[in-house]
Amino acid sequence: MTYIETKTYDQMAKKAANLLSAQVLTKPHSVLGLATGSTPLGVYRWLIRWYQKDDVDFSQATTVNLDEYVGLGEQDPQSYRYYMNTHFFDHINIPKERTLVPCGTAADPEAECRAYDRRIEALLGIDLQLLGIGRNGHIGFNEPADVFIKNTHVVTLSDSTVTANARFFDSPDDVPRRAITLGMGSILQARKIVLVANGAAKRDIVREAFTGPITPRVPASLLQLHPDVTVLYSEEETPQEVSV
Ligand code: GLP
Repeated sequence: MTYIETKTYDQMAKKAANLLSAQVLTKPHSVLGLATGSTPLGVYRWLIRWYQKDDVDFSQATTVNLDEYVGLGEQDPQSYRYYMNTHFFDHINIPKERTLVPCGTAADPEAECRAYDRRIEALLGIDLQLLGIGRNGHIGFNEPADVFIKNTHVVTLSDSTVTANARFFDSPDDVPRRAITLGMGSILQARKIVLVANGAAKRDIVREAFTGPITPRVPASLLQLHPDVTVLYSEEETPQEVSV
């Protein structure tokens, strides 16, 4: 594992963007695993800037998002599909049909999970997975549990995640209680992993995940077994102009 601590949030975001950009430069048809939340917003901003300067080209790439709330459609401003469109896809030259996000309004969410895994398999897996980390150590929406779940699955969100994510909703009651998430197997099979985290509230969980025991109680701890992980951390809180 490579651990890099930067002074500012923006330096962290820029380094992560550099790694994604290098991935697409060296392999234009890369499969990029993408994440939501406030942490990666600066990463997307840098990539958009470089795309506008003609320094990076996404025309041959495919993206696979980690997760989506069950019940939220793509027009819902709180859905992760809406987040990805407005913060990234609408500003770069990636064909929308090659941007995969689990469908939160699928009539049969379990069937959607199986279909999502088949699509990732057909893409021959993820080249580079960008990850954030939840305050309880979750990645995607793989919440602390007794076991690691390998495949894409429907998860009931923990109270702490609902509370943490309530800041994006009008009221905590509006936060969906269920989500579809990539499983730990697909995340671990990504050829490279870049995890971004910032703010004092994430320092302890980052330390615990990467130096503590490997346990499904801290899902990100499983990343210790991955051969190519870069962790980027900045103590600086997400600046106001970046946060959603
Ligand atoms: C959500 C997402 C995760 C993300 C986490 C942290 O729960 N499902 O993928 O890593 O939030 O978000 P933030 O970056 O806003 O702290």
